[in-house]
Amino acid sequence: MIFSLGQLFLPLADLLVLASAECKSGIWSMNPDRMNTRLGGPKIRTFDHIPPRICFDKCIRRPRCHSFNYNRHVLRCELNYKPKPGSVEHFHNEVGFVYVDVDHYRGDPMYDTCLGNPCNSGEICEIKKDGGVFCVKDQEIRIEDCTKLREYEDKSGIYTIYPSKLMSKGGLEVFCNMTNGGWTVIQRRIDGKENFDRNWVEYENGFGDLQHEFWLGNKYLHLLTTSGSYKLRVELVHNNGTNVFAEYQNFVIEDAASKYRIIVNGFSGYGGRSYDSL
Ligand SMILES: *[C@@H]1O[C@H](CO)[C@@H](O)[C@H](O)[C@H]1NC(C)=O
Ligand SMILES: *[C@@H]1O[C@H](CO)[C@@H](O)[C@H](O)[C@H]1NC(C)=O
Repeated sequence: MIFSLGQLFLPLADLLVLASAECKSGIWSMNPDRMNTRLGGPKIRTFDHIPPRICFDKCIRRPRCHSFNYNRHVLRCELNYKPKPGSVEHFHNEVGFVYVDVDHYRGDPMYDTCLGNPCNSGEICEIKKDGGVFCVKDQEIRIEDCTKLREYEDKSGIYTIYPSKLMSKGGLEVFCNMTNGGWTVIQRRIDGKENFDRNWVEYENGFGDLQHEFWLGNKYLHLLTTSGSYKLRVELVHNNGTNVFAEYQNFVIEDAASKYRIIVNGFSGYGGRSYDSL
């Protein structure tokens, strides 16, 4: 562990006050990994007018936070998702900012205020009066689709996305397949467990199990595909293992009044006939 006050001109008054209140062992200090540098990209949260010690604490209590940017002039605290491996281009020279990688300090009782943090990604570890801990849900930033989400999460699974047209509805639960770029899965058929012989209203609202077989729902497909610009990829695997796919550069599902008509074009693919040629 490195202790350095020399390089650091963070507001010392705040530091000392908080140090005596929160730390058993006196003066708390940290050594910024980069001076006059700020990590770009989206933030988990941004806070203004808070001292660096509190910023550090906000980061270390969130399993998802790996580093923060701190500006000592405006006391601004920016909690970063983990930078992508090797992403040097994410760092910008910005006078007044320091960049601190919080992962160095995890597990150190002097720094890690929630030692042995039991919380999940997306939660904050809070400390009870009796010294016990509990986890609360973090108010996360809202990410519009699986492609953008992949910058922070590279594990396939169920996530809530917030396409602009679905914001007011509180987001949409989807399965993101993070292989090859981050795809929002709109239908999956595997073994016939789910009945796909359904009526209009069922196809409109969606059905099935996101982890297994499902149809996302025409009304959601409309809102999603008109919130941005989307590609469609169709994959079929034959019983004998042969894999075919079709990809369309543009994909839109129109609204209910247009009977959820599909518009696709820009075919590329392998092993099948294109929709354009049907
Ligand atoms: C993601 O998609 C690929 C094909 O593009 C497939 O092989 C893989 O099984 C999928 N992963 C999950 C977790 O569904
Ligand atoms: C699998 O079956 C398809 C359709 O009958 C055929 O076109 C393909 O060549 C087969 N692949 C293998 C590896 O047998």
